[in-house]
Amino acid sequence: MTGIAVGDLVLLVHEKKTFLVTVSEREFHTHFGVVDLKDLVGKEYGTGVESHSGQFFAALKPTYIDYIKKMRKMPQVIQPKDAAQILAHTGLSAGDTVVEGGAGSGALTVFLAAVVNPGVVYSYEVREDFLTVAQKNVELFGMKNVLFRIQDIYEGIDEHDVDLVTLDVPSPEKVVDPAYDALKIGGYIFSYSPCIEQVSRFCLATRQRRMQVKTIECIVREYEVSERGTRPKSRMLGHTGYMSFARKIC
Ligand SMILES: C[S@@+](CC[C@H](N)C(=O)[O-])C[C@H]1O[C@@H](n2cnc3c(N)ncnc32)[C@H](O)[C@@H]1O
Repeated sequence: MTGIAVGDLVLLVHEKKTFLVTVSEREFHTHFGVVDLKDLVGKEYGTGVESHSGQFFAALKPTYIDYIKKMRKMPQVIQPKDAAQILAHTGLSAGDTVVEGGAGSGALTVFLAAVVNPGVVYSYEVREDFLTVAQKNVELFGMKNVLFRIQDIYEGIDEHDVDLVTLDVPSPEKVVDPAYDALKIGGYIFSYSPCIEQVSRFCLATRQRRMQVKTIECIVREYEVSERGTRPKSRMLGHTGYMSFARKIC
């Protein structure tokens, strides 16, 4: 093992907060003191460093979930709790092929690419500025199995024999036909919608094809534990999005 080097990503985990840093010659300022990033060079992931004020940070190798939480965001991203539903409902696995409609910040792209590696994610995006952000996010995490297309997914999908088409675009109903044609039998369209009207447009469009469809929402409630008692946290993320899954059955 060669240890952590300049340019590597490191997750600095303090008891109260987590930071993602790229190792360099610089100092990193936090509310818990200053960490000299040079101190990380040559250390193994999993060891600790102290800030100038003696606060402890574990230096961990970021997982793709750590990375998604901390990476640069432009448009609204799909949260890992929602992306995880894709695995639970489609069985997406290593080696699968995915087409993504709407790369945005690339959060779902990173999630999908981590799961299907060495399979490929083909990611369509119409806005060059968002594509650049998504591309940088994917590259910084060192992923090589994403192919970006600056292309309108409403106009069609170039790939065939696809296991999954994911849609996070304003009119997913326009992609039902091309997605259906691109999918393997047994493959899925996943459509992520912020509002229920979009869900109904998408689901009604799938009725023109032979598909099995369901829509869910994923609400996560975290708990706080103390000597006085244990109860749900007062604050939570109320609504993120609705998720529809349409499976091609013929
Ligand atoms: C909400 S963002 C996607 C965020 C992404 N799912 C993530 O987790 O980072 C929606 C993206 O879809 C793109 N988009 C909208 N219509 C599109 C189309 N017809 N074809 C391809 N991309 C499109 C937008 O430019 C925007 O970047």
